[in-house]
Amino acid sequence: MVTGYDEIGKNIADLKASPNINDYKSEVASWSWENIWNELDTPNGLINQAHECIDRHADGDRAQKLAMIWNSSNGIVEEYTFADLKKETNIVANAFRKAGINKGDRVFFLSDRIPELYFGVFGTLKLGAIAAPLFSAFGPEPIKERVQRADGKVIVTTPKLLAKVNEIRSELPSLESVIVIDTRDDEPIADEDLAWSELCEGMSENFTIESTGAEDWSIMHFTSGTTGLPKGAAHVHNTVVSHYATGKYVLDFQEDDIYWCTADPGWVTGTSYGMFAPWSNGVTQVIDEGGFGANRWYEIIQKFNVTVWYTAPTAIRLLMKAGAERARRYDLSTLRYVMSVGEPLNPEGVVWGLEAFDLPIHDNWWQTETGAIMIANYPILPIRPGSMGKPFPGVYPAIIDDEGTEIEEPMVEGQLAVRPGWPSMFRTYWNDQERYDSRFKNGWYLTGDKAKKDADGYFWFVGRDDDVINTAGHLVSPFEVESALIEHQAVAEAGVIGKPDDLAMEVVKAFITLNENFDESPELLRDINNHCRTRLGPAVAPRDIEVIEILPKTRSGKIMRRLLKARELGLPEGDTSTLEDD
Ligand code: PRX
Repeated sequence: MVTGYDEIGKNIADLKASPNINDYKSEVASWSWENIWNELDTPNGLINQAHECIDRHADGDRAQKLAMIWNSSNGIVEEYTFADLKKETNIVANAFRKAGINKGDRVFFLSDRIPELYFGVFGTLKLGAIAAPLFSAFGPEPIKERVQRADGKVIVTTPKLLAKVNEIRSELPSLESVIVIDTRDDEPIADEDLAWSELCEGMSENFTIESTGAEDWSIMHFTSGTTGLPKGAAHVHNTVVSHYATGKYVLDFQEDDIYWCTADPGWVTGTSYGMFAPWSNGVTQVIDEGGFGANRWYEIIQKFNVTVWYTAPTAIRLLMKAGAERARRYDLSTLRYVMSVGEPLNPEGVVWGLEAFDLPIHDNWWQTETGAIMIANYPILPIRPGSMGKPFPGVYPAIIDDEGTEIEEPMVEGQLAVRPGWPSMFRTYWNDQERYDSRFKNGWYLTGDKAKKDADGYFWFVGRDDDVINTAGHLVSPFEVESALIEHQAVAEAGVIGKPDDLAMEVVKAFITLNENFDESPELLRDINNHCRTRLGPAVAPRDIEVIEILPKTRSGKIMRRLLKARELGLPEGDTSTLEDD
């Protein structure tokens, strides 16, 4: 329980930098997306994310400014200026063109956080092709489903991850080539693959960016639904308008900031805020190849003098576990602003920031589909711990009822919806327009989250309105896990839920029934577990598998995950009138 912090007020004088929003109310009242557009460089109405993030700085005053400080997992540091990024991404764009990539093609990335991943994504955008980054911890199955869904033409990967691609290659008819980033790892690659180093050899450092307009496709991220395969939320170049604006006013970027976003580009935070928001604002960012470690992370902040830090609640809970005194052992005095996203941030987490860093943690809310931050806590406004904050100027979220009517009364739970029209709104689910259309009702975009709004306009997250599981900030589709489980010869049926967890918020839990001739045993469960980890990867596979006699189903045969969850938590089972009679 948080005590004594109903609201954390802040004084402009206490902030280490004068914030970009000084008066939230007047910013909201006078907001114009057109003014933001005019702050970017959009010759003849054309806009390209790579131009906004790289070339316009490289061609101007920021050419020699550091854009990327890369910290490898074994401590090697590489630095790239905006001019270097322009050169590297031009070389890649020329190389990708030689490899047959054209405007509109889908280029998938399966790579750890190495500089080439960033060169590759921006090289793709320069060509007007669509970049689709995948999480490198995915197993072959999620990779296959995503590449199939979007008819991927090329996969760019590393020698270490190539084996996963090889396993599914024959099931990807649209795949024309695999480009292997061989520059950091000397494992041999197969003859049919294109070596990154050879492709880039002798390529020109000059490239004229393909003409792209606001509505041309740019990036695609996959997100999980309750039923069916993952959905490819597709974004357009106009999305950078929101990235730039939220970078300026929520992340509060200042010219001298050293920014660090801990998210992986396999998820939308790692591109929107690990690529586009900082670089469209011309800000220097640290990119760390390694994984979480309390000491490692504090060392990074200390070593690179990080000023603005964007991370996630699961990481904050892990840091809390390590203790505030651990943070106090490091010189973290350069930090001036800390934010978190992806899951609810416990009020205790917000307040813990004060103990550990003398800074509260600012929560904000958005989704793959929204492309950029929609609701946020701002430097200038008091924080109400546990609240996601207030709407971004020019964005109109609301709480609506089942009919799609706005609920005006404060603190009444309903569906969180947003009025369409902000620049970074997704424009379709690739090859699934019907599903896209189903996300809109009565002039609202339906987020699939439940929330409340208080009398002062702060939004409070309640929970998801569907069965999608949020584990450590990553959405997992129960359907995807169930499909992998029933591939195993012993499994007859499977129902998958998110089980509450102190650290990761939820972990994936599976209930299965066994086929005849199979008996439950620790060996069998281990085998099923191994099967899931190999097929799905550790980020998606169930943490816990329980064998039960019968799975509760509706009369139409749908597994009642809601009931499984209620039983798991010892909660009332609710309406079971549609339950199948056995
Ligand atoms: O359920 C909400 C949760 O994460 C979902 C979006 O996940 P994804 O599409 O992967 O986008 C990640 C980029 C943020 C939301 O529908 N979520 C996100 N932020 C918060 C949150 N839940 C509570 N509080 C948040 N601040």
